[in-house]
Amino acid sequence: MNSKELIKSAIEAREKAYCPYSNFKVGAAVLFEDGKIYTGCNIENASFGGTNCAERTAIFKAVSEGNRVLKEIALIGDPNNYTYPCGICRQVLTEFAESGGVKVYIIKNENDYIVKTIEELMPGSFTKKDLG
Ligand code: THU
Repeated sequence: MNSKELIKSAIEAREKAYCPYSNFKVGAAVLFEDGKIYTGCNIENASFGGTNCAERTAIFKAVSEGNRVLKEIALIGDPNNYTYPCGICRQVLTEFAESGGVKVYIIKNENDYIVKTIEELMPGSFTKKDLG
């Protein structure tokens, strides 16, 4: 698996977004320990708090198939801007980023993206270690 495939998958997943309220499409693709790519889009709700972000859709799909170890994630929102993961998604990413140095591809398009680690995006985070 290379990052190109993950990035393409996130771009494709964005087209599936259900976002009638914000009209802001987001797509995500995650690679977990089973070596498969799981994709997700944002799914909005008339009761706005029921909205699920693209990253969490993808992560929850992977985890519900038995995965626990996140390797990489790619996401794309506005193609004219680098769309960073929201705070709730950063916390959920942290939960499954046990190995450290997990890369987050923040995409504008296939040839224009930046790469951050989860630690860069979420320093000093609260994790399962804090619960002993
Ligand atoms: N959104 C995501 O899918 N991921 C993020 O990290 C940021 C926000 C979605 C949620 C909502 O459907 C829309 O973008 C506007 O907030």
